[in-house]
Amino acid sequence: MKRIGMIGCGHIGTVHAYALAQLTRAGLIDAALHAVYDPDADRAAKLARYNGGTVRASVLDVLDDVDVVWITTWTDGHLPAVAAAVERGLAIFCEKPLAPTFDGCERVTELLARVPHQVGLVLRGAPVFATVADLVRDGEYGAAQAVVLRDDQYFPVQGMYGSTWRGEVERAGGGTLIEHSIHDVDVLRWVLGDPTTVSARTANRFGYPGIEDTAVVQLSFADGCQATLVSVWHQILSRGSSRRLEVFCEQAFFHTDDDYLGPLVVETSDATTEIVGQAPDWAASLDVPEVYEKAVAAYAAPSKAFLDGLAAPGGPVSGWPDAHDALAAHRIVDAAYRSAADGGRPVALTSGAHPA
Ligand SMILES: NC(=O)c1ccc[n+]([C@@H]2O[C@H](COP(=O)([O-])OP(=O)(O)OC[C@H]3O[C@@H](n4cnc5c(N)ncnc54)[C@H](O)[C@@H]3O)[C@@H](O)[C@H]2O)c1
Repeated sequence: MKRIGMIGCGHIGTVHAYALAQLTRAGLIDAALHAVYDPDADRAAKLARYNGGTVRASVLDVLDDVDVVWITTWTDGHLPAVAAAVERGLAIFCEKPLAPTFDGCERVTELLARVPHQVGLVLRGAPVFATVADLVRDGEYGAAQAVVLRDDQYFPVQGMYGSTWRGEVERAGGGTLIEHSIHDVDVLRWVLGDPTTVSARTANRFGYPGIEDTAVVQLSFADGCQATLVSVWHQILSRGSSRRLEVFCEQAFFHTDDDYLGPLVVETSDATTEIVGQAPDWAASLDVPEVYEKAVAAYAAPSKAFLDGLAAPGGPVSGWPDAHDALAAHRIVDAAYRSAADGGRPVALTSGAHPA
């Protein structure tokens, strides 16, 4: 059985630990939480008490006693933890964003490429976006012409996130665009491919230097397709994190207000239909209260896929998306920030891998 380490026992570390513990209990993975660390000892103790593993005194104490590690520290903690884990040849699940700066993202990518790894861009596991990617790529309804993706959540230094580091540019790298909408940029690139130019405008009204709370990004593609991302951190504390995606192809309009199962509404000249995404069959064997089912499935599925790949008959393989996919999304985000700093002037993108 593979021994799992957890470096960082805050919000997302706890979500991952809960999902992993469920997978272990259901016999769906041959792996279990073994060792955990967080400088906040209470957080580490709580995570281990409910999900398994023992609390260790340092990052290295964990890394020296596990086979695979989840790196779920705040963003500027990813690079040193990844470097130490790579030194030990461990398989790594690294949270997004890879690092606060693009240079740091390149460094994390170089390191992760040396070991089996996966990045926590979990929207790629959402059935509704997989359906959109399939429909657009199949071209059944003609080429994609225009896409609008709106992502909003309340400014996450409060409420259930309660993470002051998200207000500090050195640790977070920026605001709503890099910290939250790196997921959206990754989805847009997955569905549409690499853009040729990026332009953006950002605004900062809540008083956290370098932490934009509003970002509007325009992506232009070689075939003329245009995508607009609207990313907002507001102060509506009653409103949960939410997304709306609209895609116009030549012969169909798709839209969804849910970022996991949908439904995806597909409107053509002939009919309007709904495609409801399906969680993996095995999700039914998890012992999870109904209210948590969506969140747990959204994180359990990528984790299970990663661990399945580590146990592949031909030897361990990296999961999907990998660090190169993540770096390509960061390249777009970096271009957007450069555009915004230059009054919204379009920035040409000359390099970037093709979508997986
Ligand atoms: N994939 C997703 O859907 C998703 C969702 C939320 C957060 N995230 C990412 O996960 C990371 C953590 O976010 P969060 O919401 O859990 O933040 P958080 O503040 O709730 O937790 C971060 C934890 O990391 C700990 N930490 C800091 N340095 C550490 C170190 N060297 N070793 C061990 N622990 C350390 C902190 O004490 C804290 O408990 C961020 O990069 C964030 O962007 C991803």
